[in-house]
Amino acid sequence: MSDGKRIIRIFDTTLRDGEQAPGCSMNVQEKLEVARKLESLGVDVIEAGFPASSPGDLESVSLIAGIIKNSSVAALCRCVESDIEAGKKALKLAAHPRIHLFLATSSIHLEYKLKMTPEQMLKTAVASVKLARSFCDDVEFSAEDASRSDPDFVAKVFSAVIEAGATTVNFPDTTGYAMPDEYAKLVNYVKTHTIGMEKAAFSVHVHNDLGLATANSLAAIGAGADQVECTINGIGERAGNTSLEEVVMALKVRASYWGADTKIDTTQLYPASRLVSKVTGVKVQPNKAVVGENAFAHEAGIHQHGVLANRATYEIMSPESVGIAQNMMVLGKHSGRHALEDRLKTLGYTTLDQKMLDSVFSQFKALADKKKVVSDKDIEALVQGATVTTPETWKLDRWLTNASSNESAISAVRLEDARGGLRETVHFGNGCIDAAFSAINDIIGKDVRMESFELGSISGESDAQGEALVKVKWTDCSGKERVWNGRGVSTNIVESAIKAYIQAINAIEAETSACNKNPEFAPLSC
Ligand code: KIV
Ligand code: ZN
Repeated sequence: MSDGKRIIRIFDTTLRDGEQAPGCSMNVQEKLEVARKLESLGVDVIEAGFPASSPGDLESVSLIAGIIKNSSVAALCRCVESDIEAGKKALKLAAHPRIHLFLATSSIHLEYKLKMTPEQMLKTAVASVKLARSFCDDVEFSAEDASRSDPDFVAKVFSAVIEAGATTVNFPDTTGYAMPDEYAKLVNYVKTHTIGMEKAAFSVHVHNDLGLATANSLAAIGAGADQVECTINGIGERAGNTSLEEVVMALKVRASYWGADTKIDTTQLYPASRLVSKVTGVKVQPNKAVVGENAFAHEAGIHQHGVLANRATYEIMSPESVGIAQNMMVLGKHSGRHALEDRLKTLGYTTLDQKMLDSVFSQFKALADKKKVVSDKDIEALVQGATVTTPETWKLDRWLTNASSNESAISAVRLEDARGGLRETVHFGNGCIDAAFSAINDIIGKDVRMESFELGSISGESDAQGEALVKVKWTDCSGKERVWNGRGVSTNIVESAIKAYIQAINAIEAETSACNKNPEFAPLSC
């Protein structure tokens, strides 16, 4: 794999910086599923969350820490004792725990946000690293807003935290402000002016505000960075973070240029991208490098001609190398378990256990009865349904709707309550979906507010499955208004909408019950 090349560590922060982005929230089960996928991708570090920020985050970091064995699991903490204690609690079961501390070094952050002098900052950083090292061998320190800080001060802080026991120091371009050659020079300067650098890894973490996150991360690798922090699909605060798939494939495709590689199994990149897009409900732009719908589509006649003659005329990497299957065998009602399992493998779903395979197979059979051809996208949707399992506090039992051009729509919905009993109600509404959602609000006794609602189809045919993506707003138990996602798939679009709405409500119910278990957590103020 390495052929004597430098191996760049991949630190994935999809579940922390990615999840922090508006509309990208995931529930505990969804985070676990993404963490499993990141482990099968081969990432070195999974930043699982920010345990002190909410009971849900603490619960998901602990759950992931207890299950992931091959990647390190990191918990983000401010340089505050209670945060570090929450990190310790969350990582108790981790095979390879990492505490990730951050404190800003730029004068604008010190003066206006932290209200600290540089000396106080340095003292706090050192004390926090020492506290974290008292129970964890792997401690990363991030100098937030490093690229807009005095590089000599950052080098001084890095020297001190390495002396205190930090094993990785991270130089973030928090605001996405740096230019590639400038960032490379800063990385080189700080790295060479940090005392004890041979005892720690040098990491970079870049935001994409000017569309330069991948370029800056690669420039930093050229300047000696050992670790890149990134997210699947580049999701993250504001314009996002460095996109994992872009950095990994740039190193792979231009191996001789960089002389560096990663441990990532690139054939898992596309399935990972699809999974993150599905669980967050955030679509990948069609022209997104590596994983976009059009990344390997050749439309112009002259391009098609070239590709037919020799793919290398217009393709610098193959779709298969990033896990995009080019399998044209049609699956339908006569296809058996073997054919389905084979297709699942081609699509990159190599880690499904027997229970999941059974569930996908029985859903596949049910779908093949309704639909002539079961497409790869249908199969992805089935896997999604079988693997992301939000506890079903509420389950759809039956529904009925009536709508016409002249009258208000009316919907009746009956839900099964996992705590016992069936609850049914009828509601009028501005269309059958609005009526059904209002009926559900009545049943659950919550006035859940709609943030966004999208209806689409999984594939292009007229008998395609409808896919509904629902985002609802609800105030979590720490008093923060948050967005919760739900996704539903059915051959009937009304049913897909109802299922999506119920899934979002179940995510709220799951977090409410986690919160009741950990009531001591107060809302976070940064
Ligand atoms: O962007 C940033 O500086 C961060 C730090 C917490 C690493 O996300
Ligand atoms: Zn960040």
